[in-house]
Amino acid sequence: MDFLELARARYSCRKYADTPVGDDVLAKVLEAGRLAPTAKNNQPQRVVVVQSEEALARLSEATPMGRNAPVVLAVGYAPSEASVIAMDTYYDGTYCAGTQDASIVATSMMYEAAELGLGSLWIRGYDTGKVREALDLGDDFELVMLLALGWPAEHDEPSPMHESRKPLDDTVMYV
Ligand SMILES: Cc1cc2nc3c(=O)[nH]c(=O)nc-3n(C[C@H](O)[C@H](O)[C@H](O)COP(=O)(O)O)c2cc1C
Repeated sequence: MDFLELARARYSCRKYADTPVGDDVLAKVLEAGRLAPTAKNNQPQRVVVVQSEEALARLSEATPMGRNAPVVLAVGYAPSEASVIAMDTYYDGTYCAGTQDASIVATSMMYEAAELGLGSLWIRGYDTGKVREALDLGDDFELVMLLALGWPAEHDEPSPMHESRKPLDDTVMYV
């Protein structure tokens, strides 16, 4: 599958099979995140693998969004390691790249998951405080998103939103 085919095939999976993900498959997903680029190559990303029954139960009390996924990755960054750039010449403020770093790490993992046939769901619909507490995230961990992972349930189908994309003319400008 070339990348555009993969990008078309990936969809938000909200119903997972009971089958475990498997350590070898999970390792590939995590490796794709490790290879992602980050600002100044600081690699401030942090990925918490939530897969024990107890941790998944704590997380599902904090947010229902993980559905029944057997693995949820909590992706964020360490503010102490993220690139912070104050460049008066180009930018009139201080800029921290941590959110972008965590996002490209999560995106890389999401597409590797798709390549492996796993379903995934990018989740931001949660109360940050509750998730932080459920996962006991430390002080130097800025949570950016959750990525649910698992084999799609039989007959799982993309939601109608998957087919709905604006035409390029609406979102791309040429100057
Ligand atoms: C930043 C971001 C946050 C999202 N948060 C949630 C969420 O909390 N719950 C959910 O069910 N889907 C969430 N999604 C999935 C989107 O709803 C989904 O990607 C979009 O509707 C397009 O559908 P598709 O992924 O099937 O193509 C999120 C996606 C992104 C990129």
